[in-house]
Amino acid sequence: MKIFITGFAGFIGFHAAHEFLRRGWEVVGIDNFCDYYDVKLKRDRTALLEGQRGFTARELDIGDLEGLRGAFAAENPDVVLNLAAQPGVRYSIDHPFVYEKTNLAGFLNVLECCRHAAKVPKLVFASSSSVYGGNKKMPFEESDKVDTPISLYAATKKANELMAHTYSHLYKMQTIGLRFFTVYGAWYRPDMALSLFADAMLHGRPIKVFNHGDMLRDFTYVDDIVDGIVRVVEAQDLPLYDIFNIGNHRSEKLLDVINVLAESLGVEPNMEMLPMQPGDVYATYASIEKLNKAVGYEPKTTIREGIPVFAKWYKEYHGL
Ligand SMILES: NC(=O)c1ccc[n+]([C@@H]2O[C@H](COP(=O)([O-])OP(=O)(O)OC[C@H]3O[C@@H](n4cnc5c(N)ncnc54)[C@H](O)[C@@H]3O)[C@@H](O)[C@H]2O)c1
Repeated sequence: MKIFITGFAGFIGFHAAHEFLRRGWEVVGIDNFCDYYDVKLKRDRTALLEGQRGFTARELDIGDLEGLRGAFAAENPDVVLNLAAQPGVRYSIDHPFVYEKTNLAGFLNVLECCRHAAKVPKLVFASSSSVYGGNKKMPFEESDKVDTPISLYAATKKANELMAHTYSHLYKMQTIGLRFFTVYGAWYRPDMALSLFADAMLHGRPIKVFNHGDMLRDFTYVDDIVDGIVRVVEAQDLPLYDIFNIGNHRSEKLLDVINVLAESLGVEPNMEMLPMQPGDVYATYASIEKLNKAVGYEPKTTIREGIPVFAKWYKEYHGL
């Protein structure tokens, strides 16, 4: 079986590619190596995948329809895992058009290539917990109304869910969306809070804590996310279209997370308390019952187990 992983050089794509190769899949990775964050980190992840049996990398932008068509025609994948996206809630405030290009036009290209492929692949794509916007009812369930996103990033992810539904309905292709809840682990993104905190703490700077630390996040360890992705990709009996939360089902207080991180890094945190940032949500908390019932998904990793793995990798990678 052959899987296309778009965004393979990214944080989640890299871990997913490893796991699919380990399970004997052929993996074709697509990435445009954009410079939203340090491209060296993307190249270093890629170097660990290249040379593994069954892996091919293609440097390609999903916004390039002709290039993407060529890749589909040459490779005929059984499954497409679309992780390529412009991520980031805060970045979408100052850089709206890159979200249009990758998350909307790029995603439409992926749908079109799947639709016109000689053998129509199953499409599994990344959505986000951010589609829940400022919803107050916890935990977030897939049946909750998600019509009030509070960032452009969230709006594009919600749009992906709607676009995929349309293609499933019109062309009978299988599309499954996964709403990821704050994923973390080794080889992490440098723009995420844990990385920013680690960098500041290890360099003796105060960490910026928004909403004065009064925030709750469902932190999901990347191996648990990959386990959920694999279960969805390999499941034979899922409906033509569906959406699932994929989180840890524990909503952690930001200050507890900071303390576990500081302990794992062996430093004392120095906090600069700041007000809420525009586009940020107060709390995320995933109901994972639906994914559990569908494919037996059960996350195993607590922040006390997962954060030390991230901290160890962070110090080693940065030579600190
Ligand atoms: N990490 C999280 O906590 C989280 C939470 C919710 C949703 N998600 C979603 O999961 C997916 C993966 O996220 P991640 O954390 O690994 O992010 P990431 O930025 O590390 O990975 C995304 C990859 O996509 C590539 N990419 C961007 N634009 C592209 C384009 N036009 N064509 C081809 N490749 C392109 C980037 O170079 C990058 O390597 C994204 O869709 C993201 O929105 C992530």
